[in-house]
Amino acid sequence: NSQSHLYTFPGKAELAESLQQYVLKAEAAALAHHDTFRVAVSGGSLPVILAEALLGKATTPQFGKWDIFFADERAVPLDHADSNYFLLKEEFLNKIPAELGSPSVHPIAEKHANQDDDPQQLADLYQDELKRAFTGGENEALPIFDLILLGCGPDGHTCSLFPGHSLLQEKTAWVAAISDSPKPPPKRITLTLPVVAAAAQIAFVATGGGKKEIMRDIFDSEDGCGLPSSLVNKAAGDKVSWFTDSPATEGVAYP
Ligand code: 6PG
Repeated sequence: NSQSHLYTFPGKAELAESLQQYVLKAEAAALAHHDTFRVAVSGGSLPVILAEALLGKATTPQFGKWDIFFADERAVPLDHADSNYFLLKEEFLNKIPAELGSPSVHPIAEKHANQDDDPQQLADLYQDELKRAFTGGENEALPIFDLILLGCGPDGHTCSLFPGHSLLQEKTAWVAAISDSPKPPPKRITLTLPVVAAAAQIAFVATGGGKKEIMRDIFDSEDGCGLPSSLVNKAAGDKVSWFTDSPATEGVAYP
């Protein structure tokens, strides 16, 4: 594996511009290959940046050919303020003009999910859904998403894969549940590290000065090599692209 790519932009507008080119290229490659674009997305600031990158531009995605999955989700109802699905809907999906087509969206949690539900049950249901969506792929041991779009927390977490958590050892499951997330809410469902690393392309978006310590740990320090985001870099190498801004990478010496 060669090294992951780290791109730094002066601000969000330039980042969004470059992310647009990157997503459209991944979309074109996927459509040429299997006439559908299977992408997994996270929560956090990502839905807002995606809207800025992809909506209201001269070149537009073929949203009717998109299958949108979730990199992780909180075990809450789909209309709950903590739901990543709800966030994506509010910030991105609802803003796609009808004439551009509608993506097929595959939420993780059921409509009735609440904090009493067993997140493992939601994880199993989602894994079944992925098995149906990815049947006939080249490598059925793992789904190969065309693109996975991730955030990186100030602790180095990505998806709901947290530093030091035993879930980082998972080798076979596609989707897993945790009930002890250090960041609330505690019950979550997440794609596993092998699934993230198997994707054709993986992008992180990390912006703002609040990320600069963790960016140094990930890119410049031996101590950071066990962090979940570093493990993605290590496992997927040059399939990984980081879209960052100058405040987030201040002092990072990585090439
Ligand atoms: C969560 C959040 C979280 C977020 C990262 C990055 O489930 O707790 O979705 O994983 O994606 O902390 O957040 P930002 O993109 O807002 O920096």
